[in-house]
Amino acid sequence: MSLLKAATEVRENAHAPYSNFKVGAALRTKAGTVYAGCNVENVAYPEGTCAEAGAIAAMCAAGEREIAEVLVIADAPMPVTPCGGCRQKLAEFSDGNVQITMTTTEGKSMSMSMAELLPGAFATKHMVNT
Ligand code: THU
Repeated sequence: MSLLKAATEVRENAHAPYSNFKVGAALRTKAGTVYAGCNVENVAYPEGTCAEAGAIAAMCAAGEREIAEVLVIADAPMPVTPCGGCRQKLAEFSDGNVQITMTTTEGKSMSMSMAELLPGAFATKHMVNT
């Protein structure tokens, strides 16, 4: 399935009663499987869990760890970039050259590499002296 179709469909399931801002994310792993996630907000944490985090959780739950590409979709005037926390989460499972495509429901699209989205990401390579 295309990432656009998967992210568009899962976005319909977003639970965003506080922001009313629905986001869908889909990722393909190096093994070729597509995992999708939507944002889920709740009363105790109205900022909720981001769509990207949902897709990562689905991937990990299935036992996969290596992201090949990502797509995020939202209804916005311009493509929505992943929040800081999601950039870190994505970076933990992506090489720097993994492409993150951000698209609006109207089809305005932009693509950035993981290294462009989070240059100098903190990673396990920093912790070898422990
Ligand atoms: N959100 C995402 O799911 N992904 C993003 O990349 C940006 C923001 C969600 C979190 C929250 O439910 C809503 O959008 C407003 O911040």
